[in-house]
Amino acid sequence: MTVDTAMSDTSTIQVGDTSLELPVVVGTENEHAIDIGTLRAKTGYITLDSGYGNTGSCKSSITYIDGEKGILRYRGYPIEVLAEHSTFLEVAWLLIYGELPKADELKRFEDEIKNHAMLHQDMRHHFEGFPATAHPMAVLSSMINATSCYHPEMLEMGAIDESFPSLVAKLIAKVATIAAFSHKKSVGEPQRYPDPSLGYCDNFLHGMFSRPYGRYTAEPEVVRALDQFLMLHADHEQNCSTSTVRMVGSSQANLFASMASGVCALWGPLHGGANQRCIEMLKMIRREKLDVKKVVERVKRKEFKLMGFGHRVYKSSDPRATILKQASDDLLSKLGVDDPLLPIAQELEAVARSDDYFLERNLYPNVDFYSGITLRAIGIPVEMFTVMFAIGRMPGWIAHWKEQHENPSARISRPRQVYTGATERDYTPIGQRA
Ligand code: SDX
Repeated sequence: MTVDTAMSDTSTIQVGDTSLELPVVVGTENEHAIDIGTLRAKTGYITLDSGYGNTGSCKSSITYIDGEKGILRYRGYPIEVLAEHSTFLEVAWLLIYGELPKADELKRFEDEIKNHAMLHQDMRHHFEGFPATAHPMAVLSSMINATSCYHPEMLEMGAIDESFPSLVAKLIAKVATIAAFSHKKSVGEPQRYPDPSLGYCDNFLHGMFSRPYGRYTAEPEVVRALDQFLMLHADHEQNCSTSTVRMVGSSQANLFASMASGVCALWGPLHGGANQRCIEMLKMIRREKLDVKKVVERVKRKEFKLMGFGHRVYKSSDPRATILKQASDDLLSKLGVDDPLLPIAQELEAVARSDDYFLERNLYPNVDFYSGITLRAIGIPVEMFTVMFAIGRMPGWIAHWKEQHENPSARISRPRQVYTGATERDYTPIGQRA
């Protein structure tokens, strides 16, 4: 089979005696794709692409990544500019609705989120049922689905109608409350109700750290660091969990079921779970007083992966890692806190960046390598790290679910396969089996 595109608007695929002209799709950033929508009908062939490294699942106008140049833009705005000048809720609006909100739009959005932060009183019984040792990602995914049981209006989502903005606000508001409540359950303290006078991050930190006998008030630097952390995690085009949300949403499953599936996909240590594994790796290196150079040699012998390193798309640097590395350093110095894991992380990065094994494989720190340092400085327990990633990614998942839901030509996602199992054979009754 030969493929000739010659950068034209069609590609010629020769399969056996069949020569097939296929359309070439060109994106606004000049990405080229061969539309193989008629391949099987016209040749009987399908394509096979383990891990989808060469396969586009959709067209999208939400986020653009250039992995070779280390570019990340949300709706055309560079992540560096948003990280410096924007806020998490402003970015959430941008990702979901496509434009930066006007002042009155953002105010309404922020107020609606404050007003919907409470959970239905009956939901506290679910928390009573979880053991204190329940992983907060298990709690988050189940409580997102449970939330829809108390809000049946969230289930019957036909078209994206006038009720959608309120649905979005409820989801973004309640996931933060669910996370804080799950933390209180794990430490055996009474849950603290959200305070509608507080902003999103302040309210979350209040829910996490206010004690029965004392109100926690976060330092402005801590609030800003958390807000920027959430912003940096808000979207990342067709990553594993977002593709899962699209896959589940393609069956017209409701928004909450789709979001809960995203949480489950994100939990994996190769994806969002890497931020927890990375800190646990750094703690192990410190606890066992391991020589970083020897750790790197063990990684090169494939004894384990360097968690927080490598990326399917970024082959130069993950711009979020660059921002988070500086942000974690800044936060620690503003708080006058030393984190013994930071110099270990910095040494690991330096050793890896000068080693051909990593350079040849384009392995650099990704978003999960330094994010844990920021979360530790804020006081978030390591088991909650991936939950923080999920809270940040919620707007991106919602944006992709909405984009797919609004696409009139969207179909249920149902990939094909190449069967490699047993060919047809006769049934042997149990008494005659050797
Ligand atoms: C996220 O997709 C997204 O956009 C995700 C994300 C988002 O915002 O949604 O950016 C968030 O999930 C970031 C990634 C977090 N995961 C980790 O930090 C876990 C460690 N990283 C790896 O497991 C890996 O790099 C992946 C999963 C991130 C990417 O895997 P790929 O693209 O399938 O690459 P691969 O496993 O085929 O690796 C290619 C080579 C292999 O070596 P060889 O077989 O060529 O000898 O690189 C090696 C791998 O062994 N390699 C690593 C490594 N990552 C890849 N070796 C050591 N340590 C690593 N971390």
